Amino acid sequence: MSSGLRIRTKTARVLLAGAAVPLVVVAASVLAQRLMLPFAVLSLQNRTHAVAALLAAAALGFVRTRAADVVARRLRLNLLDLFLAPFVSGPAPSLPAGEAVTARLAADLPRLVTWANDGVALVLAAALAIPAVVVLLASALGVRVLLPIAIAGVVGAATTTLASRHVSAAWTAAVDRLRALFISVGAGYEGAVDLRAHGRAGSYAARLREQMSTWSVYEGRARVATTVSTWGSFAVTLATAAAIIALSSGTFEPGVDPYRLSLLVLAAVPTLHTLVSGISNLLAARSTLASTARQLALAEAATLVESDAPIDSAGEIRLERIGYSYPRGEDGSAPVAALDGLDLALPARGSVAITGPNGAGKTTLAHVLLGVVRPDRGRILVADREATLDNRRFRSRIAYLSQRPFQVAEGTIADNLRAFDPELPDGRLLEALVVVGLRDSLGARAKSDADLLALPYRALSRGQSRRVMLARALLRDTDLLVLDEPEAHLDAASTTELAAILKRIASARRVVAVVHDRELLGFADQVVELTPPAKPGS
Ligand SMILES: Nc1ncnc2c1ncn2[C@@H]1O[C@H](COP(=O)(O)OP(=O)(O)OP(=O)(O)O)[C@@H](O)[C@H]1O
Ligand SMILES: [Mg+2]
Repeated sequence: MSSGLRIRTKTARVLLAGAAVPLVVVAASVLAQRLMLPFAVLSLQNRTHAVAALLAAAALGFVRTRAADVVARRLRLNLLDLFLAPFVSGPAPSLPAGEAVTARLAADLPRLVTWANDGVALVLAAALAIPAVVVLLASALGVRVLLPIAIAGVVGAATTTLASRHVSAAWTAAVDRLRALFISVGAGYEGAVDLRAHGRAGSYAARLREQMSTWSVYEGRARVATTVSTWGSFAVTLATAAAIIALSSGTFEPGVDPYRLSLLVLAAVPTLHTLVSGISNLLAARSTLASTARQLALAEAATLVESDAPIDSAGEIRLERIGYSYPRGEDGSAPVAALDGLDLALPARGSVAITGPNGAGKTTLAHVLLGVVRPDRGRILVADREATLDNRRFRSRIAYLSQRPFQVAEGTIADNLRAFDPELPDGRLLEALVVVGLRDSLGARAKSDADLLALPYRALSRGQSRRVMLARALLRDTDLLVLDEPEAHLDAASTTELAAILKRIASARRVVAVVHDRELLGFADQVVELTPPAKPGS
């Protein structure tokens, strides 16, 4: 088997895992439907049989729809799993942007469902239906009747294959437009105020409308291409069969009624058509399947297993000659060296401030301490024992305030405070809000403490939402608190307050804080100044 075919087969198997039975039911109901038609023609003399066969064919339509629904559900979960594997246990820094993943899922899910239910299942059905129809016809009318059908089938399949490249390219172009549209809508909403302030919201909306029309045009073209290809090859199949019957009339078994013969060939052609449209749906999903195969490779590479080794999370942490480069991007962009030969000692008691210019590697260093980034070079010692920080026990003893925190944008203040610990009681949340000064400043907006916690997070200012995130980090009872620019978006008075808060916390536990504001350095026993790694060769 060629490696391309092997990868496609493997991807198909992964996508259809757990969907084999419903898929076979889809195929079986198509198969039965296809057999009912020639059977009805063959039993024209017995009207009851013929009518029963046609009614059964209609009823099978329902069975097919239900089974196809089950296939769709299973396949959607399987595809989602391929995206979740790198999310849960892949290298977090190289995950693509959220909108790009959303757009891909939105575009790929329906296409892959069509691939399964109208591609794989139809081909499966046809593979069984064709021999069955052959036997049916041959036994009723003799072997020679198969010749026009066989030739028609070959001609139909060849026409579909020839057209498939065009159909596939048309669908790829349409899906690309759809993705671009989704990404633009997301970016527009995200930056709506900015666009409005610059008087660009109207023109941006016009651009979205244009993108929507472009997508519609491309999708329309793809549909036309599919229809022309499918029905075109159907017509070619039919015409070939008709032509051969006309040319060879008289060569069939004596006594064969040409009218009945034509009717039977017509009844058999939908079976061929099943094969032809199944193949065309398989071919049309080629590019989606190829990108799913790449996603499968990413999912399989996502093998970071969180360690469960005992670790003294309150002990000294020493980073020795640590180096880390962000890997090459999927777009081919070069790897970026973020840390190079970094030494850092975090004593069991004592806090550290990390400063340095933008791009110096401060956030990357924080990610190394959190075990989210595994250094490519150097070693980490915890309480004098070599360790990886990607460790479940270590994680349960650390709290983190990210530069880009996880937010429940449409939730309440309480939803955001409880994001990492859903069990926290209201009392604890309120205490944390007091510490970050929000209970006083937001108190006027809420009649009670419960109202305060129920305030919508979206309705907070940037500085206020930053304080909610800080409160969330402080809520965790931990040995190590890692803060990445806690002063971001805070006013001068709040920064002064934060300096006092940091000092108080640092007297009880270890704090590592990335700070730009020198006013905050007071909490630290040690200040580490990072500089960006030198360019290779300089
Ligand atoms: N996901 C990523 N992929 C590739 N390069 C990255 C990625 N994240 C950061 N970098 C690069 O790594 C270097 C260090 O980035 P980092 O975010 O650690 O800097 P920083 O010191 O925290 O900067 P800032 O003060 O702006 O927050 C930068 O040159 C940055 O461009
Ligand atoms: Mg940073």
